[in-house]
Amino acid sequence: MGQKISIVIGTRPQIIKSAPVIKTLLKKNFETSIIHTGQHYDYEMNKIFFEEFNIPDPDYYLGIGSGSHGYQIGEVIKRVEEVLIKDKPDLVVVPGDTNSAVGAAIASAKLRIITAHLEAGLRIYNPFMQEEMNRRIIDHISHVLFAPTNYAYKNLLQEGIEENIIFLTGDTMLDAFLKFKNRIEQINVYEKYGLEAQKYFVMTLHRDFNTDYPERLKEILEALIIFCKKHDDINILFLVHPRTKKRLVEYGYIKMLEKSKNIILMPPTGYFETLTLVKNSIGLLTDSGGMQKEAFILGVDCITFRSKTEWLETVEIGVNTLVDANANKIIKTLEKIISISSNRRRKDVQEKAMKYYGDGEASERIVKAIKWAISNIMPQNEIFNA
Ligand code: UD1
Repeated sequence: MGQKISIVIGTRPQIIKSAPVIKTLLKKNFETSIIHTGQHYDYEMNKIFFEEFNIPDPDYYLGIGSGSHGYQIGEVIKRVEEVLIKDKPDLVVVPGDTNSAVGAAIASAKLRIITAHLEAGLRIYNPFMQEEMNRRIIDHISHVLFAPTNYAYKNLLQEGIEENIIFLTGDTMLDAFLKFKNRIEQINVYEKYGLEAQKYFVMTLHRDFNTDYPERLKEILEALIIFCKKHDDINILFLVHPRTKKRLVEYGYIKMLEKSKNIILMPPTGYFETLTLVKNSIGLLTDSGGMQKEAFILGVDCITFRSKTEWLETVEIGVNTLVDANANKIIKTLEKIISISSNRRRKDVQEKAMKYYGDGEASERIVKAIKWAISNIMPQNEIFNA
């Protein structure tokens, strides 16, 4: 067995981002240890992705579960630390910007284990966004950084991080997409959901700045209801995250949505189904980071319920419109998208996405950088000068 790499995951997007890296590490005979914090625990938020990507089950499942930010991060630090002390990996990979990621990075860096941030350097420069806080902390305590885009790379340099520890790798979500492209193309959305291609939008919404503010959430939902009333031949397929489901019930909005007959509420779907649904849709409505990028890769228009995005290239190319929670902007953008063309899946857009996110070889570059880091960055047991 080769060197030992621990990968700490805990949420749905972290599994997607890490899967290509885990596969490449295994192919290159590294010993891997998958540590699952348990932040996401429902089948459709967690296990389904292990099955779809065919990656080994976690070596450790820490059962953190839901709770406040302080609770989640604190428990992740404590429990990941225990595992790392026992496991003694040569390097720890921390993907993304979740509470699991920041907790794991703190545990690992504090133990002086080489800590690598997968998806480093993303910024919207809003210090009040939970994920932004996590990203900043992780980037500034990690020893090696894998930037998915040019913008991310430049952000890290601008923040004074040493150039030699930053690697412009491309994006592992593009690796995942290219690897499973055929599987995505095999699912027939009409047979499975009775949905006619190009006759529906897909929607996901789960960020706290939208779900946890009743007025913002109401404005978004009302915009959709107004649009759907006018276009009764178009559906909005709303894949409801558990956080959002809780809020819709709590605020009494679920009834309002159920009255609109062309808004379809469904539990979250796995990777293959989600991408198939987006691929065949008119457009995607979302506040997720990863899904803005996936729409771009698929050449599908995206409407984002945020005022800023870390995936600036999607806006520059013109496939992503930031509408915040502004009803007028939401309706106007929906109208614009349906008026353009019934089928504008754009090969040129997909080709551009390849240019921005690498060529599907990000995980190869990451594994090379991991090898470099293990040989060039001080190992955990070495005594260093204070
Ligand atoms: C987390 C990440 C977010 C990421 C998202 C992907 C942080 C700060 N946020 O947000 O960046 O985009 O994951 O989905 O880490 N719940 C369930 N079942 C589950 C998981 C959650 O019912 O398997 C419910 C619980 O009520 C929980 C709520 O969803 O309180 C929120 O879950 P949490 O893990 O705190 O954050 P997410 O909103 O999922």
